[in-house]
Amino acid sequence: MDMKILVVGGGGREHALADALSRSSNVEIYSVMGKENPGIAALSADVYICKETEIHRVADYAEANGVEYAVVGPEAPLEAGLANELAARGISCIGPRKEAARLETDKEFCRNLMRDHGIEGCPGYQAFHNPEEACRYIDEHDVDLAIKPIGLTGGKGVKIMGEHVDSVGAKDYIREIGGDVVLEERLIGEEFTLMAFVDGTHLVPMPLVQDHKRAYEGDVGPNTGGMGSYSMEDHSFPFVTDADRTRAFAIMEKVIAALNAEGHQYVGFLYGQFMNTADGPKVIEFNARFGDPEAMNLLSLLTSDFAVILVKMAAGTLTPEDVTFAHQASVCKYLVPEGYPDAPQEGQPLIIGNYGGAKLFFANITFKDGEYYTQTSRTLAFVGIGDTLAEAEMQAEQAAASVSGAVRYRHDIGTMGVLEKRIAHMRDIR
Ligand code: AMP
Ligand code: GLY
Repeated sequence: MDMKILVVGGGGREHALADALSRSSNVEIYSVMGKENPGIAALSADVYICKETEIHRVADYAEANGVEYAVVGPEAPLEAGLANELAARGISCIGPRKEAARLETDKEFCRNLMRDHGIEGCPGYQAFHNPEEACRYIDEHDVDLAIKPIGLTGGKGVKIMGEHVDSVGAKDYIREIGGDVVLEERLIGEEFTLMAFVDGTHLVPMPLVQDHKRAYEGDVGPNTGGMGSYSMEDHSFPFVTDADRTRAFAIMEKVIAALNAEGHQYVGFLYGQFMNTADGPKVIEFNARFGDPEAMNLLSLLTSDFAVILVKMAAGTLTPEDVTFAHQASVCKYLVPEGYPDAPQEGQPLIIGNYGGAKLFFANITFKDGEYYTQTSRTLAFVGIGDTLAEAEMQAEQAAASVSGAVRYRHDIGTMGVLEKRIAHMRDIR
């Protein structure tokens, strides 16, 4: 009999989760999402349209359909306690319970956990629950800081002094968001992401990947959910040494051990966002889920059976041998509505041309009467795969160029120019 697996969420990342599951044999995919994603729907035996944070309705649906495992894409249902609710009904959830998901959903909890357990890689920080106290701290310390709302912000809420705001703008922002903030040392370096599969105790790492948060080419403009990402054939980057990667992974292992020591088991994907500084990797943040777009890169490269990985994660028996990725490069480019993120043009028709050998993932898009239309968030993405970064980039770029309509994307993602800039910056600071 087929194993029934529920995919929770309706974006590009969840389309990639469903796509990876569709390559496993004997899996029947069920899906729940706020708005129908045509890519996920095409792969599912059944689709339930429901807000992912309505955890009782989601769990009712899972139970009624005899689902055995659920895999959760976004953070909001984890924060709402979907894993707790599913567990109460005997359904295994790949995605941590809300107490462990605080690693992402409560930045103060995350920093305190690292500090209390003496885990390296934690930048200097101070948490506040009062805007005037936070503003006073800024006045008393004449240094650039990162200003982070303590709760979830959809990846758009961090402001960096000296980059997005000056000290006056920083204080205005703190007052605007109400004063629940972590102020932390501004880290200088190059960012990379290390994600891992976590089965409660063991972590199995994935290839390194790098996102591009800024809206425009050359890393300028407002922060977004992520405009695109790339990974390289050696599963690392030329600006990250083996020692850096080993240290980053050790930090993640210690964080999971610390959670266990505090009585919180973690089953799910762990996303480690690092700044590679002059003194090695420092933690920017953790996410309790796959990255979006990063999931599209890495799940496209996964050569082992994703359903087996999920089952072993739930059982606590995952080993490195269960996880293999192609030794190829990947480049993901998101197409977004013109005007995104500040004033996205919604409801604009799109024509998807011949996208060659690239993989297409749908995100925030409407499919009606045979036509595609933009919504307000990221529309769709293409992933190019190749033996080199240049090949992967060309495939993604040509695919993205095949789309006509009021959408745009970053031409620079995955290009040698961007990579060389990062290598040169790292050389400068070390
Ligand atoms: P986050 O929402 O935590 O991923 O932060 C968004 C972006 O802000 C990150 O990708 C970094 O580019 C930047 N950032 C966050 N924390 C720091 C920090 N302590 N120092 C410098 N940049 C940071
Ligand atoms: N791409 C960054 C994230 O998913 O948070």
